[in-house]
Amino acid sequence: MITCKGKAEILKMERATRIVQEVLAECLAACRPGATTEEIDRIADAGIRARGAKPAFLGYRGYPKSICVSVNEEVVHGIPSPKRVLKAGDIVGLDLGAVVDGYYGDAARTAILEPIPDAVRELVGTTHEALRAGVEAVRVGGKVGDIGAAVESVAKRKGYGVVREFVGHGIGTSLHEEPQVPNYGPAGRREMIREGMTLAIEPMFNLGAAKVLVGSDGWTVRAADGKPSAHFEHTVVATAGGPVVLGFGRYAEDRSIPGAPTAADYPDAADAGQRTNVA
Ligand code: MF3
Ligand code: CO
Repeated sequence: MITCKGKAEILKMERATRIVQEVLAECLAACRPGATTEEIDRIADAGIRARGAKPAFLGYRGYPKSICVSVNEEVVHGIPSPKRVLKAGDIVGLDLGAVVDGYYGDAARTAILEPIPDAVRELVGTTHEALRAGVEAVRVGGKVGDIGAAVESVAKRKGYGVVREFVGHGIGTSLHEEPQVPNYGPAGRREMIREGMTLAIEPMFNLGAAKVLVGSDGWTVRAADGKPSAHFEHTVVATAGGPVVLGFGRYAEDRSIPGAPTAADYPDAADAGQRTNVA
């Protein structure tokens, strides 16, 4: 069942996603050579709790940590570990969820630890561009397939592999609700987008082939060919005025700003996770 949310519910999701965005900014700043992914998890967990929210991922289907940290060829669901030390040249996917008053927010960014090859920088930038394109495709009266078609067309221009086994999702009083939101088309198919539908849109692009494998820990998703992968995610609400990305103060009682935030709207005022962290 797809539920459409009212203003009071969306305001709770705005608060949850706001916390996610603020804490993601802290985690992004902590992604430096020599840091462990376990340290990133501690920052995420403490940051969420300090703001009065609960980590959404901890314990979800047995997931053992509060954030997913996916390095290089890891696509999503990387489990933080004290043994995993970040180094210059890594790209680091950070995926975080929070719960406020029973309502969820979910977002992800990919950080860059310079120096990295231009081709990898372009992969990260293009995946963020695809997230924006997916958000802009959220129109009341349109179809969920329009979102995937918009995301996929951005990947096609660069020849990237679009991950098919993992998709975006409805979100609200659960982390994962109907409908599924694939990162591929065709447009004009799947469910009708209605006012108050809240969707987590999350493109995952591979520099190489689309094929992915799940690791022996039961969670970590990797590009099968070992090439780098990038991931960005927003929690979005469909309004009569257009899509509004939650977590940026763009949805308020009497005022909503349609469209996807630009890089400058991120709490860290950096470039959407493409900030450079040099040793
Ligand atoms: N953003 C991811 C998703 O929507 C995070 C889920 S990780 C899990 O699937 F640990 F919660 F499973
Ligand atoms: Co998600």
